[in-house]
Amino acid sequence: MKQKGIHHFSGKCVWVIGASSGIGQACATALFAAGAKVAISGRRAEQLKQLANNAPGERVLTLPVDVTNASQITQAHQQILECWGKLDLLLFVSGMYAPMRANELDMTLVEKTINTNLLGPMRAVAAVLPAMLKKHEGHIAIVGSVAGYSGLPKALAYGPSKAGIINFCETLYYDLLPQGVSVHMISPGFVATEATAQNDFEMPALMTPEQAAKEILQGIKDGEFDIHFPKRFSGFLKLLRILPYPLYFWIVRRFVKI
Ligand SMILES: NC(=O)c1ccc[n+]([C@@H]2O[C@H](COP(=O)([O-])OP(=O)(O)OC[C@H]3O[C@@H](n4cnc5c(N)ncnc54)[C@H](OP(=O)(O)O)[C@@H]3O)[C@@H](O)[C@H]2O)c1
Repeated sequence: MKQKGIHHFSGKCVWVIGASSGIGQACATALFAAGAKVAISGRRAEQLKQLANNAPGERVLTLPVDVTNASQITQAHQQILECWGKLDLLLFVSGMYAPMRANELDMTLVEKTINTNLLGPMRAVAAVLPAMLKKHEGHIAIVGSVAGYSGLPKALAYGPSKAGIINFCETLYYDLLPQGVSVHMISPGFVATEATAQNDFEMPALMTPEQAAKEILQGIKDGEFDIHFPKRFSGFLKLLRILPYPLYFWIVRRFVKI
């Protein structure tokens, strides 16, 4: 049994959370170009406004939200239903990255990271799922990261938050597949955005946000559960995680400057 894809985005109602920059902004832009109605969210209202100014007025809804706030998410979802009567795709892209090593374990930052990257998408899914389950249709797509596959250096808070996304999506899939609701787990490699601008190392197989958006939207169209890219990097990391730990740690230490 395979889950459903989306044949074309024209006329589809999509909610992109995390549309104010980077990968989410590129996804929203590509969705507008494909003829979708797009609700755009994030905290920075000014950035959302600029994006909306370049979009066809009748096909954009600007809904600033902080994903750590459940009631803001619920209210934004209500507004989408009031305006458009339905939501075909929740595309949750929001996330934060703060490099962290063991000697700088900062619980305030850990809680903020988990609250944004893991509890944020869970809140959004909790908001949209009842209506999708009632209609037995809809798509839930969540951006995790290849950093969630297995432990990588300097990702003491980010890694666990993204590993949680993988488990959340896998677990959702069991329940939603028979209900007709598709789940798309998105695991990007390195993408050149504000988030990675702080990295002080050479990022292998670095992509543009536009390339990432293309991979994401194609994967959703095709009904893929596991959307990962670029394959030469994500595939390599997938292979690493099935190795015995001594070999895994040895290889990662060789490749990553720590
Ligand atoms: N770039 C990469 O190499 C890479 C690789 C793997 C995975 N990812 C993931 O891709 C996603 C997008 O990241 P990006 O690289 O495009 O970075 P980015 O340009 O920094 O975008 C992050 C987005 O998340 C939003 N966001 C952060 N905290 C939020 C909050 N509390 N409430 C609402 N929105 C919030 C930001 O909007 P506001 O600031 O306006 O709220 C922004 O739209 C993240 O989940 C990231 O972990 C990125």
